[in-house]
Amino acid sequence: MKRFWVYINLITSAWGISHHNVSNHTFPTDFMIGIATSAYQTEGGWNESGKGVNIWDTFSHESPWIVDRSTGDIAADSYHLYRQDVEALVQLGVDFYQFSISWSRILPTGFVNEVNQAGVDYYNNLINELLKNHIEPMVVMYHWDLPQQLQDLGGWANPVMADYFQDYARVLFSMFGDRVKWWITISDPHSISYGYSEPQSYAPGVNASGVGYYLAAYTLITSHANVYRLYEQEFRSKQRGKVGITLNGEWYEPKTDSQEDKQATEMAMQFVLGLFANPIYGLKGDYPDVVKNQVNRISAAEGYHRSRLRKFSPDEIATVKGAYDFFGLNYYTSRTTRAPKPTTDVKNNPDINVIFGDFSNATKSAVPYYEVVPWGLRKILNWIKKEYKNVPVVITENGFSDDGKVNDTERTKYLVSHMSEMLKAVHEDGCNVIAYTYWSLLDSFEWNLGYTVTFGMYQVNYSNPNITRIPKSSAYVFSEITRNRNLPLDYLKITGEISEDVTDIYSLQHRNSTPHHSAASCKGIFFNYSGFYFYVWLATVTYGGYIFIS
Ligand code: BGC
Repeated sequence: MKRFWVYINLITSAWGISHHNVSNHTFPTDFMIGIATSAYQTEGGWNESGKGVNIWDTFSHESPWIVDRSTGDIAADSYHLYRQDVEALVQLGVDFYQFSISWSRILPTGFVNEVNQAGVDYYNNLINELLKNHIEPMVVMYHWDLPQQLQDLGGWANPVMADYFQDYARVLFSMFGDRVKWWITISDPHSISYGYSEPQSYAPGVNASGVGYYLAAYTLITSHANVYRLYEQEFRSKQRGKVGITLNGEWYEPKTDSQEDKQATEMAMQFVLGLFANPIYGLKGDYPDVVKNQVNRISAAEGYHRSRLRKFSPDEIATVKGAYDFFGLNYYTSRTTRAPKPTTDVKNNPDINVIFGDFSNATKSAVPYYEVVPWGLRKILNWIKKEYKNVPVVITENGFSDDGKVNDTERTKYLVSHMSEMLKAVHEDGCNVIAYTYWSLLDSFEWNLGYTVTFGMYQVNYSNPNITRIPKSSAYVFSEITRNRNLPLDYLKITGEISEDVTDIYSLQHRNSTPHHSAASCKGIFFNYSGFYFYVWLATVTYGGYIFIS
């Protein structure tokens, strides 16, 4: 009997070691890895083949708030070069490609009475090309580019937009839903709403500080929910896809352990992420209490007759609550948070009454407000797990900006260290993350920063008449990751994730030998092989043990 327990211990401790090694740096079976772009940032073809004008066409042509005065008129020209994009995706070995549809390319005025067939053809071609190459399309319906005519009616500040968004969504489900199984209704409503707050922010640059943001937020949330319900009622039984929304999250870390700083942190989380997430994913629905109380209180002190935060009706709360199949999370950075000194001057308090700060030791990126804080990803995933019943999370964006060099070691470090923190959240904390998306496939138009910073794994050569795409070194490492389904040990060493003495199974030289592969043939090979050897070992010792004790 004693021998039996010794034997069982041997097996379980071997399992423990092996499981520990594998768990931290290996992607779970069925985990999906992808990469993203958005229509306005990459497509170009801004006035071609029947496309209507949208708010970013107008903003980039007219506003002084784009630092290099550039536009997305041509951008990476994916409207013409999408086949090259798909080739790059094949080289990367991704499971899915997240791209957005330009509303005004399909419906030039925004309304459904006029459909632009050339626009429909373009997206059909792209979707078919992806599927031909075994790459799943993950489609964003709205990534910031509202048809101008709808903006002329007030845009997202006008609640009636929810009807027009639902009409547009019905067109998309009907035309593409036979092949598209992953839908993101709206990408980053926080940034979209910001465009209704300050003129120098994002398109449409409406100057309505304190009011416009909440009006837009309200319409965006109800619009998302209406589309989710539409899918449920009219399409789900036939198309069997999934519908979610993408929210932008930053992690806020209390500056000190004081109760005040912790409360300030929670307030910041609830205002930025919770304001959009709680109505959809929260147990009771509606905006978080701290948001309602704070905006109601300050609005009253300011002399408004009603809160600047537009209320949901009880019906709307019920429609919005639970309108999800997954939680789309964009994560780029984290900030420190602390409480300001207490004051009785309610009227002059900002709604988010928190002092934000930087981390002095964090790596910087080309976008000054995106400090590199990989551990923040693990923390925010745990926060979401706790707040929203461990909802399935798709990381819909995570990316690093630099000046565009091909040898982009910092991007690779960013990628590996963030994936590593995500895998810790999955394996060690039980967070329900089902997919990871790197932002972005291509260098592209970075909104108000124009072309001054780059996020792509492929450099786009705008001065070349063919607008060529060149893989950066991060692209090679990314393709290793998608192929091997675990993280490269040498980069984990560089980022300090593992110690130097761990045997290195990869080499940097190996990467320079263009390890491109077909998406279909190479997925999961390493996982399968290492898993296979482990199971052979386990079977041998177990059978041996059985003979030994009997
Ligand atoms: C936006 C992208 C943008 C990225 C980097 C995201 O939140 O969705 O369009 O390029 O941030 O700033």
